[in-house]
Order: sequence, then C-alpha cells, then structure tokens
Amino acid sequence: MSDTVPLGSAPLLAVDGFSVRLRLPYGELHACENVSFELRAGESLGVVGESGSGKSVTMLSMMGLIRGRKEGTLSFKGARMEDLSPLRGRDVSMVFQNPLNSLNPSLRIGKQLTEVLTEHLGLGRREAEKRVLSMMERLAVPEPERLMRRYPFEYSGGMRQRVMIAMAMLCEPDLLIADEPTTALDVTNQAQILHLFRELQERFGTSLIFISHDLSVVSQIAHRVMVMYAGAVMEIGPSETLFRTPLHPYTRGLIDSLPRLLPGERKKPLASIPGTIPSLIDPPKGCRFSPRCPQVQERCALQAPEAVRHADRTVCCWLYAEGGRPR
Ligand SMILES: Nc1ncnc2c1ncn2[C@@H]1O[C@H](COP(=O)(O)OP(=O)(O)OP(=O)(O)O)[C@@H](O)[C@H]1O
Ligand SMILES: [Mg+2]
Repeated sequence: MSDTVPLGSAPLLAVDGFSVRLRLPYGELHACENVSFELRAGESLGVVGESGSGKSVTMLSMMGLIRGRKEGTLSFKGARMEDLSPLRGRDVSMVFQNPLNSLNPSLRIGKQLTEVLTEHLGLGRREAEKRVLSMMERLAVPEPERLMRRYPFEYSGGMRQRVMIAMAMLCEPDLLIADEPTTALDVTNQAQILHLFRELQERFGTSLIFISHDLSVVSQIAHRVMVMYAGAVMEIGPSETLFRTPLHPYTRGLIDSLPRLLPGERKKPLASIPGTIPSLIDPPKGCRFSPRCPQVQERCALQAPEAVRHADRTVCCWLYAEGGRPR
C-alpha cells in the first residue's frame, strides 16, 4: 500500500510497484523491486540507505537515464508514463554529487546556463542571459556577471554546486531530484547548499527528492524519508518520527550505527549492522534484508512482505504485517 494523501492534495508524483531489471554482460541487475511512494507538491522526500542500496539506480531509472526492463506505473500530475524522460529538463531536473562531471570544462559557465533556456524553452540569447542572471540573483550567487564569463574549473566545489542548482532551476521545474548533492563538500559548503535547497522550496515551492546516505543531512531537509535497502523500500514516514522511533529493523540498524543524530539525544554505544549489502545481481529471496536482520523469522526468506500502514508509516516487514508481531 502506498502512502495516503490528504484530501484535495493530489500527489505530484505517484510511483506504484516500480521495478527495473538491467541486462548486464555478467547477469541481470535487479536495480529496484516494487518501489512505491508518493510525493506531494512542495514536499521534500529524503531517500536514505547504505552505499550500494540502489538509491541512485532507482532514481536514474525513474528519470529514464538508465534503460532496463520496467514494471509498475509512474504518474506525474496524474499523467501515466513509463519514466520521467519526457519531462526531463523542464518539469523535472536533477543535480548530482560531482558538478564537475556535469559541467562542460571547455565552455564558459554563462554559455552552459543560457543553452539550457535556448534549447529547452526556445528563448533568444539575450532573454536567456537575463533569466540566468535573475536566477543567480534569486539564489544569492555572488557576482553573477563575473561568474558567467568564467570556466567551471575556476570555482570551488561549493560554488560549482550552486551553478548546477541554478542550472537545474532555470526552467523552474516542479520536481528537483538531488543525488548526494552535498556529499563531496566540506561542512561549511554543505550547510550553505542545504540552506539553498530550503530556500528553493520556500520561494519556488519545488518538490524535492533528496538522496543521501547521510541521515543527519536528510533529517535537516526532508519532510518525509524513504529508507531503501538492496533496491527495495523498507520504510517510509515523516522525518521527525522515523528518526526517533524507527519501525523497520533496517532503519533501526542504520540509526543505531550513527554517533549522534538529533540534538539532545542520549548517547548510546555504537552498533553496526553485521554483514554487507548484497549484490543486486542475485539479491536475497523474500525480504532482501532478511540475511542480516536481527529479528528474522522463517517466512522472511520465503516471501517479500507487502508494504503496510502502521501508525504514521508505511513499512515493509513481516513484523508489522497481519499475523506478525508488532513490537
Ligand atoms: N549502470 C550500472 N550498471 C551496472 N551496475 C550498476 C550500475 N549502477 C549501479 N550499479 C550497481 O547497483 C547497485 C546499487 O548501486 P547504487 O549506485 O544505486 O547505490 P546507492 O544507494 O546510490 O549507493 P551510494 O550511496 O554509494 O551512492 C550497486 O551494486 C552498483 O554496483
Ligand atoms: Mg548513489
């Protein structure tokens, strides 16, 4: 079952039973399995999970940037589509971890930004430049005119990430997907970029999918959080309650392995989740977390649990399924 939406607020994006398999030379990659979630207008959804849990592969498949055998439905503003590729660049855009990989090193920043508008919106060069400058000003980029004449390598990582965010926002998309946008940055730049994302949401009402393996970063930005493990959704819920009272054993393991998550929280001994994340080429049968789960039951390895509502969460775990034993 997917998350319920308050009356009158139709989801901007509804993903239902989305699965993707990629054929690789050495086998079939089960990139994601039965992923369902909803995102409302103006909402920010954090996507967390250990490295290798399939966060990027799932979102890239949804964007149509990785092509594989897909199942399930995806609808954007009520229109069903196989993936979001028809909306890319205009209604939906994406920001990645390493802005240098996404910027062309041999083109001036100004040219790269204006091209987005001349190509996607068919604006003339003058008008495009005006709009780029105005976006930079709205995003409080210092000395935007000077920046436009420079090349990407002339700037630090934090400033390049600002440029990427400005670029992603040029067409004022309804949805921005950010994949580890602050991971490569130092603490100061990380804080500034997070502030920028919050501003974007306030000023433009942009919906945000914010992917990060850093739970403390996600807790600062996300209204709701989706926890993924090995390409499958484990738990979805409001950021505040999910971090305080995790339901799924995997979410609990993730939080227990953090030194400190929320201010004022009692210090506890650090625990790590024993074992390692499985390969997605041959993922475990049944619940994908079952081989590492401290509360595993017999049926866990036989059949994957359906997502169920439990309190303010959606949780995929036999402990909470009918006949299970909620703790
Ligand atoms: N294009 C690809 N082709 C083949 N395998 C891939 C591809 N992209 C990712 N994978 C594999 O899919 C699995 C999930 O990777 P993914 O990058 O989605 O994890 P992640 O949750 O984003 O991790 P991180 O936090 O490190 O970014 C990994 O085992 C990875 O090796
Ligand atoms: Mg990733």
